[in-house]
Amino acid sequence: MQHQLTRRSFLAGLGIAPAAAAVGHIDWLSQQPSHRVSLTGTAEIFGRFFGAAVQINQIQSDEKLHEAVLRDCTYLTPEIHLKWDAVEPRQGAYSFSYMDRLVSFASSHKFKIRGHTLLWDESTPRWAKERLVETQDWRLVRKHISKVMSRYGHAIEEWDVINEPIDANGKDGLRENVFLRTFGPAYVANALRDARSIAPQAKLFINDYGFEYDNPFEERRRQSFLKLLRRIVSECAPLDGVGLQAHLGLGRGKIEPSVLHSFLQKIADLGLEIVITELDVKETDFSAPVEERDQWVADEARGFLDIALEQSAMKGVVAWGLSDRHSWLSPGNSTGAGTTSATIRDKSMLNRGLPYDADFRPKLLYWTLHDALARRRSLSGINLNRGARRSAA
Ligand code: G3I
Repeated sequence: MQHQLTRRSFLAGLGIAPAAAAVGHIDWLSQQPSHRVSLTGTAEIFGRFFGAAVQINQIQSDEKLHEAVLRDCTYLTPEIHLKWDAVEPRQGAYSFSYMDRLVSFASSHKFKIRGHTLLWDESTPRWAKERLVETQDWRLVRKHISKVMSRYGHAIEEWDVINEPIDANGKDGLRENVFLRTFGPAYVANALRDARSIAPQAKLFINDYGFEYDNPFEERRRQSFLKLLRRIVSECAPLDGVGLQAHLGLGRGKIEPSVLHSFLQKIADLGLEIVITELDVKETDFSAPVEERDQWVADEARGFLDIALEQSAMKGVVAWGLSDRHSWLSPGNSTGAGTTSATIRDKSMLNRGLPYDADFRPKLLYWTLHDALARRRSLSGINLNRGARRSAA
């Protein structure tokens, strides 16, 4: 039996009497109680946003994905299209068509876009790595940042300027990459300064993963990340926020509320916004009954979200996709291998770590996200006049 979150139970869960809600003239109350609140609708009421990583070619070829994006999202993150190896696969040979289509789609629906990502070792094209090592010339990096931010500065207000700079085992806690090897630790501040000068109005973020669990490795990652953030802030380099990817995983141990709460508060104390930028849950046991698998996934996400969404600096949640059909965690979807999830007959092989299953049925995780997003930071944090832009059908 699908967990039906009704308006009445939704309000009751929040301790908001319908009459009180009427004072705020929430137009979604007028809808049938059987309808479900969209994820963005719930997020907006509590002063946050919800979004998902997308690929425009998938949105435009998959009607169910198109509907779910329109219903549940306010923010879109290009999973591939804005990366250096996607926009300039060969030096000077730019390929902006996919990103242009996504910008046009977002604009027509008043969606916002997260600019993911300008500098990431794994998406730096081979030719650029070779040129950087050969010339040691920062102007190549600045040219890339300038080319992309100038083209999309009108459409993208928030950028992951640097993706995954941390390595707990690295010197100074920094990950060995072509930028660190070529320009030293200063590359982070230099990239932020260039981004600020090119797009002064944009919010600049550093985005990374592996901070959620209470284990020695992730504690070293948390400390390395805080060390980098404190250095950036102390050097007065421009930084507005951090993205915590939150690629959760079953079997990765315990999420200790006090540890996570303290980490988030230390980030917030630096004056930085926080966004959950790539939420999903990686499974370990595909052989268990689907109902159990979905319960484990929902419980894992709940344990993280309950703490994360108590933090007032937490501005929003972006899932790394909406449906298991397109998840990078499902076989074939991001390795370029011959099979993709679309060709997989046995859907139990798909990782069930996103809000919708491969047939776009909302899973327990979908409802868990609703309940977690309906977390009152403070009454002032509740936006009674926005309400759900769309309700799930
Ligand atoms: O589409 C092409 C296909 O035409 C070609 O035949 C094939 C052969 O290489 O490649 C296909 O592109 C793949 C693309 O995903 C398609 O989805 C790329 O190889 C593959 O590298 C790419 O992987 C993406 C990866 O980032 C690298 O860009 C994943 O989809 C994407 O989910 C993943 O996302 C990252 C975030 O950006 C940063 N945080 C971690 C997260 C997961 O790795």
